Amino acid sequence: MTMPSSTAAASPGALGVAPTSHLAPVFAQFPIEIAHGEGVWLTTRDGRKILDFYGGHAVAGLGYAHPRWLAALERQARQMAFQTNALGLAVRERAAARLTRFAGLGLDTVFWLNSGAEANENALKLACKITGRSRVVALEHGFHGRTAAAGAVTWGAAAKWYGFARTPFEVRFVARDDVGMLEGAIDAQTAAVIVEPVQGMGGAFELSTPFLQSLRGRCEETGALLIFDEVQCGVGRTGTPFAAHRSGVVPDILTAAKALGNGFPVSALLLSRRVARSLKLDDLGTTFGGGPMACAVAEAVIDTIESEALLANVRTVSTYLKAHCRVGPVTGVRGAGFLLGLTTSRPAKEVQAALLERNVLTGTSADPHVLRLLPAYIINESHVDRLLEALAQVSP
Ligand SMILES: Cc1ncc(COP(=O)(O)O)c(C=O)c1O
Repeated sequence: MTMPSSTAAASPGALGVAPTSHLAPVFAQFPIEIAHGEGVWLTTRDGRKILDFYGGHAVAGLGYAHPRWLAALERQARQMAFQTNALGLAVRERAAARLTRFAGLGLDTVFWLNSGAEANENALKLACKITGRSRVVALEHGFHGRTAAAGAVTWGAAAKWYGFARTPFEVRFVARDDVGMLEGAIDAQTAAVIVEPVQGMGGAFELSTPFLQSLRGRCEETGALLIFDEVQCGVGRTGTPFAAHRSGVVPDILTAAKALGNGFPVSALLLSRRVARSLKLDDLGTTFGGGPMACAVAEAVIDTIESEALLANVRTVSTYLKAHCRVGPVTGVRGAGFLLGLTTSRPAKEVQAALLERNVLTGTSADPHVLRLLPAYIINESHVDRLLEALAQVSP
C-alpha cells in the first residue's frame, strides 16, 4: 500500500492552514502560531507577545499555566489519571458537590461529560425522554454545538453545516426577547426550551429578565423543561457563578463547559430535583465524563475563582471596560461581565485584524459588527488600557 505524500493532504491554503497540513481543513486560523502562554499573555513562535482578550474561545478563565490548575492536574495524574464511572472516586463526588455549591441554584445533581455539545445533546435527550414529547423551542441567533440535537437547535446550522437529513425532533425558533411569541411557540407538545441567558456566538446578547421570567412561566404552564446553555456564559464569566443569577430565573437543566476546565475537557449537566428524580440506571452514560483529571481540574477552577475573588474582579474590570471602550471604531458595548460585544462602525473582522497587528487578540461573532471579548477572569485595568490604546489607533 502506498502512503499519501504530505502534499497530497488537504490543502486549505485559503483558510490560512499550511498546504502541507494533515489537519482537516475546517477552521479559519489567525495568522500567528502560539508557542507559549502564561497568565493573559501569549507568545508566538516568532517571539511576539500578545495580550489575549479571546481566552481560547471563552475557555481560559484562569488564564494560561495557572499554578493551582497545574498542581491539580499533576497531583491527580500521579494519583489516578483515569477510572470509569463504574468505580467510585472521591474526587468525582467532591467536584460535583463543589460545583453545585458554587452554583447555589438548587440544581443539586451533576452528570459529567466532556464538551459543550455533548452536554446539550444529553440535556435535550433527557427532556424528550422525561416529557415523552418531540418538539424543542430555541432562539434565533443561539449556538449550542455541532452534534445532531445541539446542531438542530443552533440558529442557521441547517443552511450552513448541519448535514443530517432530519433533526431528532421538531424545532421552532423564537426571536430574542419577543415575549409575545412564547405563548404560540411553547405548548403541550414542547419537550424543552433551550437558551443561552447571554448569547455568545450571537454577539454577546443578554436576554432580558422579563423575557426569561416569561419563558420560565410558559414552561411551568405547559410542562416543558427549561434548559440554560451556560457553556460560554457560565462558570463565573458574567461576574456571578452562572448567568442564571443575573435574572434569578432557575432552569430545570443547566449545561456548563469551557471555563469549567480552563483547557482540560470537561462539561456538566446540573439537574433539578424533578429531573434527577426521573433518572434511572442506564438512562445516561459516558466513558470519559467524570474522569478524575477532569473532576480535579473543575474543583481547582472553582476553588481558584472563589479564593482569588475572581467574580469581583470580573465585575469591576468589566464595568471599567464598559465605561471607557467607546474609542476608535467602537460605537457601543453589550453583554455582561467578560462576555462583551463591542459594536463597531467598521466590520468587526477588520478591527480584529488591526488589533492583532498591535498585539491584542480578540474574537468576532455571528454579528459582523460585534467584536467579542472573552478574556481570562484575571485581566486587570492596565490590560484594558492596553486594549483601549490599540483601539484608539484603529481608524473608525
Ligand atoms: C453557548 C455554547 N454552547 C455550546 C457550545 C459547544 O461547545 P463545544 O464546542 O465544547 O462542543 C459552544 C461553543 O462555542 C457555545 O458557545
